[in-house]
Amino acid sequence: MSFLACRVFKDPEVRHQLVNMEPDDLSGGDILVKVDYSSINYKDALAASGRGAIMKTFPLNAGIDLAGTVVESSNSSFKAGDAVIVNGCGLGESFDGGLSQYARVESQFVMKQPKHYSGREAMVIGTAGFTAALAIHRMEVNGQTPDKGPIVVTGASGGVGSFAINLLSKKGYDTVAVTSQSSMHDYLVDLGATEVKTLSELELSDKPMAKGVYGGLIDSIGGETLSKLMANIDLWGNIACIGLAQSPKLQATVIPLILRGVSLLGVSSTNCPMELREKLWNEFGEASPLPDFDKILSKEIQLKDISPYFDELIDNKHRGRLLVNCQ
Ligand SMILES: NC(=O)c1ccc[n+]([C@@H]2O[C@H](COP(=O)([O-])OP(=O)(O)OC[C@H]3O[C@@H](n4cnc5c(N)ncnc54)[C@H](OP(=O)(O)O)[C@@H]3O)[C@@H](O)[C@H]2O)c1
Repeated sequence: MSFLACRVFKDPEVRHQLVNMEPDDLSGGDILVKVDYSSINYKDALAASGRGAIMKTFPLNAGIDLAGTVVESSNSSFKAGDAVIVNGCGLGESFDGGLSQYARVESQFVMKQPKHYSGREAMVIGTAGFTAALAIHRMEVNGQTPDKGPIVVTGASGGVGSFAINLLSKKGYDTVAVTSQSSMHDYLVDLGATEVKTLSELELSDKPMAKGVYGGLIDSIGGETLSKLMANIDLWGNIACIGLAQSPKLQATVIPLILRGVSLLGVSSTNCPMELREKLWNEFGEASPLPDFDKILSKEIQLKDISPYFDELIDNKHRGRLLVNCQ
């Protein structure tokens, strides 16, 4: 049984290629999954294009998310025909990933498909949507509430940013969407943003403390924007630190942390404990709102056509989420 996979090689440059494989070529695991859908995350784009050091070993199939159907299982908790999802946990980093028609996965990383949405919708959420939910969870566990003021969301038109705005607005938060593209205004308002600002419209201060205008921050870009926005977070606000699309650098002072009780929270979707991961995935449509899938899905791509999209994503040519149909 030959199938198509997006495989990343290092020879010596890192590059990807669509190849035909056999199930026996896949890395180990006790469950074989026929992958229906995957998605392209920023991390997948870095991995497949070689523009970031993501893969722990080569060659390896890319794709940190998958939704599919169990074909074979030697674990009694799963049987052939079960609808499942996998996200993070080393998928597409340490073992063969979801941008493939088949994947073999350790059962400890496999979740049953949640009941309130489909596998296709799960991959619109993907790591980006899950990470936004994880960020909101971390902030709320640490006391964030809508009455503390608006949440500012950077990288707003990207996958994480779109979900953060959409989920926060459905939970009753005011949001300030910060984008590098003024053309994204209507899209962001449609997702639920209370206000939209371009990066250049943010009045960032060079001082360690500035007016506390935001209740919290969900940040996908890092760099100068994160460093300076910290000064604008009000009393006991939370900053969820997610990404580095602008820069991995953080040059800040401890002043907002020690004078306003601001918390800087790290968010690592890959390493989220399985119990919390399952809880958050199963909460969509229950304790947490169902996102507006149709608004956030930007494009559905066939696996065979995937190649140009990696560079395009990093070069900020897409908004929302890129879904990949693997069959
Ligand atoms: N910590 C984790 O567990 C975790 C999980 C998922 C993602 N991430 C990271 O979070 C970031 C966003 O991921 P994503 O999947 O949402 O990616 P994405 O869909 O490509 O979104 C990134 C967004 O950042 C903005 N952006 C891009 N380049 C920029 C630049 N040079 N300067 C300023 N803004 C820029 C753009 O939004 P605008 O056009 O609206 O400005 C873009 O849409 C990435 O760094 C990714 O690696 C981390």
